[in-house]
Amino acid sequence: MVSQRRILVTSALPYANGGIHLGHLMEAIQTDIWVRLQKLRGHDCIYVCADDAHGTAIMLSAEQQGITPEQLIEHVSNEHQTDFSDFLIEFDNYHSTHSPENQELSEHIYKILDNNGHIKRRSITQLFDPEKGLFLADRYITGTCPKCKTENQYGDNCEACGSTYSPAELIDPRSSISGATPIEKDSEHFFFALPEFRDMLKQWTRSGTLQESVANKLSEWLDHDLQEWDISRDAPYFGFEIPGTSNKYFYVWVDAPIGYMASFKNLCDRSDYNFDDFWQNGKDTELYHFIGKDIINFHTLFWPAMLSSAGYRTPTAVYVHGFLTVDGTKMSKSRGTFINARTYLDHLNPEYLRYFLAAKLSSGIDDLDLNLEDFAQRVNSDLVGKVVNIASRCAGFIAKGFGGYLSQTLDNPKLLDEIQSAKKEITDHFETREYSKAIRSIMALADKANQYINDKQPWVIAKTEPNSIELQAICSTGINAFRLLMCYLKPVLPAMALKTEEFLAIEPLQWSDIDRLLTAHKINKFQALMTRVEADKVQAMVNATQQEFENQEKAKTTAQAKSSSDDSGFEAEIEFGDFAKVDLRVAEIISAEQIDGADKLLKLELNLGSDKLGQQIHRTVFSGIKSAYKPEDLVGILTVVVANLKPRKMKFGMSEGMILAAGPGGEEIWLLEPHSGAQAGMRIT
Ligand code: MSP
Ligand code: ZN
Repeated sequence: MVSQRRILVTSALPYANGGIHLGHLMEAIQTDIWVRLQKLRGHDCIYVCADDAHGTAIMLSAEQQGITPEQLIEHVSNEHQTDFSDFLIEFDNYHSTHSPENQELSEHIYKILDNNGHIKRRSITQLFDPEKGLFLADRYITGTCPKCKTENQYGDNCEACGSTYSPAELIDPRSSISGATPIEKDSEHFFFALPEFRDMLKQWTRSGTLQESVANKLSEWLDHDLQEWDISRDAPYFGFEIPGTSNKYFYVWVDAPIGYMASFKNLCDRSDYNFDDFWQNGKDTELYHFIGKDIINFHTLFWPAMLSSAGYRTPTAVYVHGFLTVDGTKMSKSRGTFINARTYLDHLNPEYLRYFLAAKLSSGIDDLDLNLEDFAQRVNSDLVGKVVNIASRCAGFIAKGFGGYLSQTLDNPKLLDEIQSAKKEITDHFETREYSKAIRSIMALADKANQYINDKQPWVIAKTEPNSIELQAICSTGINAFRLLMCYLKPVLPAMALKTEEFLAIEPLQWSDIDRLLTAHKINKFQALMTRVEADKVQAMVNATQQEFENQEKAKTTAQAKSSSDDSGFEAEIEFGDFAKVDLRVAEIISAEQIDGADKLLKLELNLGSDKLGQQIHRTVFSGIKSAYKPEDLVGILTVVVANLKPRKMKFGMSEGMILAAGPGGEEIWLLEPHSGAQAGMRIT
């Protein structure tokens, strides 16, 4: 027996200001498959994660929603955990960076770094939003590109001409938070002395801890521009205050990776795991971080340098993956391809995605494309067409002819031996994160098993000899092949594996079970283990994603319209010309009626006076005044109408104008009623 490894694994901590999407899931699924493999092999493997709860974005987003950051992160954490768990991601602990454990560890590590002389202090000049009283990170500043003069560009680079600059160079810079013109302001910042770790990092990055492509990328930085790292942010900021300061906070990326430790610490406090075994000594334990390629420098420069200064172990390896694209491009909300975990789950089985990603993932950092047609096709042909097919073609005959019993001797030991002998190769592929290779090997074996069943044609034998030993042995061979394949697939498809275990009436499969076969054993009735991906469900998911985007856009416009009114509650000023465009007329209500199914609206017929030929001008208007007026009380009264409002199609018909009323609502709505000396059609000036 292989000796038991002790392994701590993490995936990157998702920010607490947004939902989990398929990009996050790709990372979690890659990690989860690896962790499940280790557990099935009998290793002691612990998978921890947390929400990354700090930073300006979270502070602002809570403010916008009118709640505290604590309320926001609590709510989001629950959503994140439900999403992950519904995708069968099996964390041993899911914590938060906004936790006592993390505060304690962050302060502790900072103090050691400071004692070691690795924290420098100096004053820097930054752009500051004088209205919000907030220093502005580059992405919160927009303005006109100094090179090509395109408006509305972000603080550090121009999307139109691609040039990079400092935000101070922007023409007419604005704070995108308040719209104010930023001013320059000095303040003292704290820096981590990264350049002092050049040698340590050169050694660490080349000691087998990183993929070659990642190490190569880093060596450019390590040879040239290693700079001190700004680790402090001024208040207001949502995070941990730096000990010994008032109103200075750790930059979110300081306490984020410490969040890995804190989540594990939280687990240790309620289990037998020992914190120091994994972080202090680290000689007989392994530590792995799974991350995306956008956060390499945080994990392979700052983090190992901080750990080494603070006297902790460094990671055994950092495993970097590429980005998930959908239908060939970056995930896009308007295209319906920025797919949230929940939207996917509303329409599709999580194991489809787990399988598809496994079939495409490699150990490299290339992007991975989720082509939605491919997705359906791949899952259907492999899982339904190949794997499930083996069981479904054999199970019925075993149930009918043999009381559910598998045979004592099998028909084709060679086939089964071939499947079993692939164990080393498949294990190695999973271990080295070459999942697509593992899946390819497994599917090649599934093809062989299907070919065997095709050759033997059990359905032909069953017609004449439904109880023959030969038929039992053939179908039992098929069922055994299926069992072995499902064992290989268990890290990828845990729910389908569970159904398989129920169907076969066996204990939970372990990796070592691949060395055994199942004979003279009674199995249960076959049940559907996986259904086909339906194209219309995939389309429904895309449509729902697009709909979410449109709703968001609408909500934004409404919020903007609201926020354009000033503190006194008045709308923003308009030009006289804007006002002059509104054609207000006196109108006589000539009929008013209830509308079936409408709670608020009345249907009004208005007389707007006569045209030049003496013809009365009539308009139909739907008005939300039902709570305050009985229709019969309205007939004959004069009111004021916006006569040139573009007709709007409403649920109950076309509305050709709008009448004016005042009041808070409910019974308290009063139509504007001009003096009885007025006449229908008069212009209001
Ligand atoms: N909070 C930081 C990580 C702190 S770790 C100490 C962060 N959060 S994130 O929510 O933006 O991203 C979390 C992880 O998801 C990162 O590893 C990131 O690379 C990954 N992904 C985000 N979008 C992705 C894709 N479209 N595709 C694949 N992974 C992606 O960064
Ligand atoms: Zn430009």
